[in-house]
Amino acid sequence: MRIDILTLFPSMMSMFFAESILARAQKKGLAEVVIHDLHDYSLTRYGSVDDYPYGGGAGMVMCVEPLANSIEALKAQRPYDEIIYTAPDGRQLDQPLCNTLSLKNNLMILCGHYKGVDERIREHFVTMEISIGDYVLSGGELAAAVISDAVVRLIPGVLGDEQSALSDSFQDGLVAPPEFTRPVDFRGWKVPDVLLSGDHKKIAQWRYEQALERTRQRRPAMLDD
Ligand code: ADE
Repeated sequence: MRIDILTLFPSMMSMFFAESILARAQKKGLAEVVIHDLHDYSLTRYGSVDDYPYGGGAGMVMCVEPLANSIEALKAQRPYDEIIYTAPDGRQLDQPLCNTLSLKNNLMILCGHYKGVDERIREHFVTMEISIGDYVLSGGELAAAVISDAVVRLIPGVLGDEQSALSDSFQDGLVAPPEFTRPVDFRGWKVPDVLLSGDHKKIAQWRYEQALERTRQRRPAMLDD
C-alpha cells in the first residue's frame, strides 16, 4: 500500500513514520508513506497557500488552486482508491473503516488546517472525509497519522503475529479481554488460574466471557448493533 499525505507541516508528519510499526511496515516493503509539502505548490513568491475567507470572518482558508495542482500531480502518477480529507465533520473513523481501507493500494490524505480547505476541493476531488472524533484539532496531521497507523498495522505481514490484529478490541464486535504476563504473583495480585491451566478451550471461553462483560460495562452500545 502507498499513502501520500499532503500537508503544510511535513516535518511534523515524518516523525510518526520513522518509528515503530509504521517504520517496520515501510522497511518490509509492505507500506510506503510519502509526505508532500503543500508549500511546494504555492502560486506566490512567499510560498503561501491560504487566503482570507470570502464573506469575511476570522481565520484563513487553504486555496483551491495549489491544492488542486498538488492532487492532480499525484493523480497523474497512479490511480487513487480514495482521496481522504481529514475534517471534524467527516465520517468517524472506526475499526470496520480501517479494515476496508487496509485492503486498498493507493490512498491520498489531505490534511486541513486553519479554517480548512476551499469547499471546491471537497466537492471535486475528495472521495472520503474522515474525523477521528468529535473534537477540533488544530490541524489534520494528527488525524492523518492516526488513520495511517490504524490502517497500516492491518496489512498482512506488518505485525509479527498476524493473529494479534484479529484479536484487537472492536475487531470481533467486542473490546479485548484483559491480558497478563510474568510474574504470576506480584504483591499478592495473582494472574487468574484459568490462564495457567493449559486448557485452551477453557481459556478461549474465559476470554470471550471477559470481553463480553467488558463490552457490557465500557461500550454497551456495541452490543446493540
Ligand atoms: N481536523 C481538525 N479536527 C479534526 C478531527 N477531529 N478529525 C479529523 N480531522 C480534524
